Amino acid sequence: MSIQKPKGTQDLLPGEVEKWQYVEAKARELCERFNYREIRTPMFEHTELFQRGVGETTDIVEKEMYTFMDKGDRSISLRPEGTAGVVRAYVENKLYGEPDVSKLYYTGPMFRYEQPQAGRYRQFHQFGIEAFGSVDPSIDAEVIALGYTFYKELGLKEVTVELNSVGNPAVRAAYREHIQKFFAPVKDKLCKDCQSRYDRNPMRILDCKIDQKYCEGAPTIVEHLDEECSTHFQAVQDYLTAMDIPFRLNPRLVRGLDYYTHTAFEYKAGGIGAIDTIGGGGRYNGLVGQIAGGGNDQPGVGFGLGMERILLVLQAQGVDIPGVKPLDVYLVGLGEAAERETVKLLQGLRLAGLRAERDYLGRKIKAKMKSADRYNAAYVAILGDDELASGEITVKAMATGEQETVRLDAFTESMQSRIRHV
Ligand code: HAM
Repeated sequence: MSIQKPKGTQDLLPGEVEKWQYVEAKARELCERFNYREIRTPMFEHTELFQRGVGETTDIVEKEMYTFMDKGDRSISLRPEGTAGVVRAYVENKLYGEPDVSKLYYTGPMFRYEQPQAGRYRQFHQFGIEAFGSVDPSIDAEVIALGYTFYKELGLKEVTVELNSVGNPAVRAAYREHIQKFFAPVKDKLCKDCQSRYDRNPMRILDCKIDQKYCEGAPTIVEHLDEECSTHFQAVQDYLTAMDIPFRLNPRLVRGLDYYTHTAFEYKAGGIGAIDTIGGGGRYNGLVGQIAGGGNDQPGVGFGLGMERILLVLQAQGVDIPGVKPLDVYLVGLGEAAERETVKLLQGLRLAGLRAERDYLGRKIKAKMKSADRYNAAYVAILGDDELASGEITVKAMATGEQETVRLDAFTESMQSRIRHV
């Protein structure tokens, strides 16, 4: 039996991959406009980084990591998300204050051992940004705005920003008690996961799909914010409003990672069913210090957007994005000497910046013309042995069927000027 791809992974084939390139190019271009610079970190890290960073009691670290011992007996994990690695690189390379606030972005594969379904994979891709060094709520708003603008410029419809504050550690510690008190009477009825969350991470119960019926009337963290937290939260909302970024407050929004403080947000989209969270993020003051092992703490805020989900939404909503680009020129040689000459002409066209192709299968003219059609070529250039002898080539515009004879020594230039005018 032939070998198949592992469960939860995808082959991105030509035809589909152009859409990915388009979405990735949009991410890069937008990051340039917002003054974020690219960072590339390893796809695997020491397991401890994610235990410390993402949190020991999160589903991601408890159940979903691809962890293995390498040949040097080190515990290694494939990255389940981007933030922990970027924070590690920020600390290790002392990027503090470069040039003032460090604004970084990344795109690439992440790995989580989850039950695959539409929009959920074991290898998936994120576009993420992280901004370090500022506690100013305007940067929380900037991060949210960048993600929102990204979706909008790609043409996604019905994108909603859900916003919450998860407070600071002191607020959360107090809130933890309220929430434990609330769930105490139904503790035994909660699902197995939530029974263990009750002691270790009770806020996560609010996020459980199974136990929603017990969450009705649960106290929200927003009701328990202290002054510092509510001032920050209000300022983020004011900045979003000033920037015309629509948002909806969701006091139940709890993110699946432990590092958040203050701002937490998610982007939701219509048209893809139950798994409708296309991105999420928030502020994480304290994480840098935690990963640095004390010492230089720096505040941070960022997001991670799921690329597969963006492509699913674009498809579900029928948004057209540019696919394969058509060829500029398809070269057809008729006769041995002419065929050989097309190799040289093809190289000339490509060096001149044109998208050009020829036949490599020694096929008849009809089959070659069919290929030109399949590649959507704007022009077909036909060279016969006779024409070669007289130093000419026939150029046919595929849209109009018009034909013209061009001097071989002026061929590349002539094609260049035609393409420029298409
Ligand atoms: P996250 O919410 O775990 O956050 O993931 C962000 C996004 O990645 C999700 O909203 C979803 O679109 C996508 N995603 C997650 N898991 C899968 C999966 N199994 N298959 C397909 N897509 C998936 C983070 O990862 C944080 N690092 C975000 C962040 C950056 N917060 C601050 N900075």
